[in-house]
Amino acid sequence: MKESNQGLSVQHLLGIKDLKRNDIDLILQQADLFKEVLSRPIKKVPSLRDVTVANLFFENSTRTRLSFELAEKRLSADVVNFSASGSSVKKGETLVDTVNNILAMKVDMVVMRHSAPGACVFLQRHIGASIINAGDGTHEHPTQALLDAYSIREKLGSVEGKKVVIVGDITHSRVALSNIYCLQKLGAEVMVCGPTTLIPKHIQSLGVKVEHNLRKALEWCDVANMLRIQLERQDESVRYFPSLREYTMQYGLDKKLLDSLPKKIVVMHPGPINRGVEITSDVADSDQSIILEQVENGVAVRMAVIYLLAQSRLHKH
Ligand code: NCD
Repeated sequence: MKESNQGLSVQHLLGIKDLKRNDIDLILQQADLFKEVLSRPIKKVPSLRDVTVANLFFENSTRTRLSFELAEKRLSADVVNFSASGSSVKKGETLVDTVNNILAMKVDMVVMRHSAPGACVFLQRHIGASIINAGDGTHEHPTQALLDAYSIREKLGSVEGKKVVIVGDITHSRVALSNIYCLQKLGAEVMVCGPTTLIPKHIQSLGVKVEHNLRKALEWCDVANMLRIQLERQDESVRYFPSLREYTMQYGLDKKLLDSLPKKIVVMHPGPINRGVEITSDVADSDQSIILEQVENGVAVRMAVIYLLAQSRLHKH
């Protein structure tokens, strides 16, 4: 396989905010090469034979966890898995415990999902391993944004100049923030759309447009990324909208609305989908939806991230 001689500017993937445009381009190009590998009858390369990766999941996850594990195995890495239920553990204790576990296991790379924003930054200060953030609370979810950008580029030829609207619970979504950074760095225009209560007050300072009317937002965009309402992260004492039904009526995407738009937009969703809430089944399963492509591309993109971080680690030592 062809190798690039220029590496990433970072040792860890804590968030898209830390990446340069060049880093993102490099990851997407490397993902192209791995996507080709994944289409072969033997989908495995020996690139990471001497590398041990620990997957530490303190929050529930299905696709992200499977996707990372598959990516690591396709690269021939040794993999150890650790999970804890997020609700009962205290932040400080858990992370200190984690540090000690990792030090004892002598792992080279850690993939971590945690409910506390900044958990990976904390970990990075205490251990020598490379760290990949697989989602830290409401903060960032960098590999999701990278696979989203990859999927847009694959479908539309490029991300540069495209108009992308992110719809729904922007306040509690880590996918939204990472997507905003990533799409902007790649030269796309970004809009967020949702009820006022689910959009952070000063979000315009990030350079995004804000639109509360879904139809107007969809008429503007080339791509709509529909987010799940993050009920598990919302403050239970606050009512963000009158009822789920009301939310769906105003911000749900159904086939009638999709078909009434002036152009054929691309529909995305990071999963898990709540069918009938933010998106109807016929939209999720339509030919305008690239939801399953996103999942497929997730493996190649994560392979690229792991591979490139392992390379930059090698060059450091
Ligand atoms: C997202 C997450 O966990 O942040 N899901 C994912 O990683 N595939 C989005 C979500 O949970 O709604």
